[in-house]
Amino acid sequence: MRAWPSLGDAVPTLRGQGEAPGRAPGDGELEGMEGGQDEDRKVPSTAGRRGASRRRAGGVPRDGGPEGCLATAAGGSLRRRAGACEDRGVGPRAVLSHEEVWRRYDAVEDRVTAGVSERMLDLAGVGAGTRALDLATGRGEPAIRAAKRAGADGGVVGVEPSEALVRMAGEKAAREGVSNLEIAVGEAESVDWSRWGVFDAATARWGLMYMRDPVAALKNAKSAIVPGGALVAALWAEPERVDYFTVPRRSLGRYRGLPEIDPEAPGTFRFADMERIRRDFERAGWALDHVEEVETPVFEATTSEMVVEWARALGLTRLLNELSEEAQRAWERDFAAEMEGRREEGVIRIGGVTRIVRARGA
Ligand SMILES: C[S@@+](CC[C@H](N)C(=O)[O-])C[C@H]1O[C@@H](n2cnc3c(N)ncnc32)[C@H](O)[C@@H]1O
Repeated sequence: MRAWPSLGDAVPTLRGQGEAPGRAPGDGELEGMEGGQDEDRKVPSTAGRRGASRRRAGGVPRDGGPEGCLATAAGGSLRRRAGACEDRGVGPRAVLSHEEVWRRYDAVEDRVTAGVSERMLDLAGVGAGTRALDLATGRGEPAIRAAKRAGADGGVVGVEPSEALVRMAGEKAAREGVSNLEIAVGEAESVDWSRWGVFDAATARWGLMYMRDPVAALKNAKSAIVPGGALVAALWAEPERVDYFTVPRRSLGRYRGLPEIDPEAPGTFRFADMERIRRDFERAGWALDHVEEVETPVFEATTSEMVVEWARALGLTRLLNELSEEAQRAWERDFAAEMEGRREEGVIRIGGVTRIVRARGA
């Protein structure tokens, strides 16, 4: 039995290291579950912002109040809240902030992506007594599951730059009775793992691609892992196989130009190419010993309105806000209609193909 060097308190410690500005990456890209800017804007659409100041001046609630509506299509027609919105798109509406969407849909995302996390932990060999580190922990996947597997004789340390996400992960861990997880607010490139001693394994679910310098993050993780220890990462495959990103963006392309995807810049598809994965892992001193592809949903809903709300807040906010209100509503209708076409047994799912790769110290 090996004692975990610094854990063991009754609740997870969310220890800041004073080294990160608390910013999540990405600006305008659809980054799935929790990428996107670390901003908290209640009504981010252009028309919504105008509406919000009007409403404040007039004393009407900021969240849309009696005038507000959800400008998304359900079954082809706009669903009105309090009946005050025009189909052609006037009037304010409530658009959820990132944090609101994270909180609203966290349980769904956890459930539909659980298989990916569990498979990663199997491949990393995480079990009772394991000491694992987790890069880009976000709201706690797969760190919380890893901590549960590790139990009282092991533990997990995560690193995540967004304070809002670290807070959410800590709340979730506490709710689930996990006390052997610590999350540093910081960047994987520079976090000082030696504070916690050495680790048996490392995980990074949908995180490396958004990092400023993933090679530095991989090198830093390698310095903290025992010889022969594994690092398991989930990385999105090519855009044409990743619908959650590509489908809403393709609809948006009818209304505006879209930024090119730069495979060398932080973003969803930075590691969509196997050669790039091999190259960057090798540069950091890791050798791949296993690669598999998994098709996974990342979101599931009973209404297309919910899918629109999710996609809009978690990646397309800026690109949509630059459009007129009418164009935004047209995109929402198009995308919602496309999502309706995917409904199966009452449920709409969207996801993509992810690679799960395992590497060991070269
Ligand atoms: C798509 S989320 C994945 C979160 C979680 N692992 C999951 O699977 O749900 C990507 C995460 O990477 C984090 N991130 C971005 N740059 C980072 C860095 N340099 N170091 C650590 N995490 C980073 C973001 O803040 C975000 O939470």
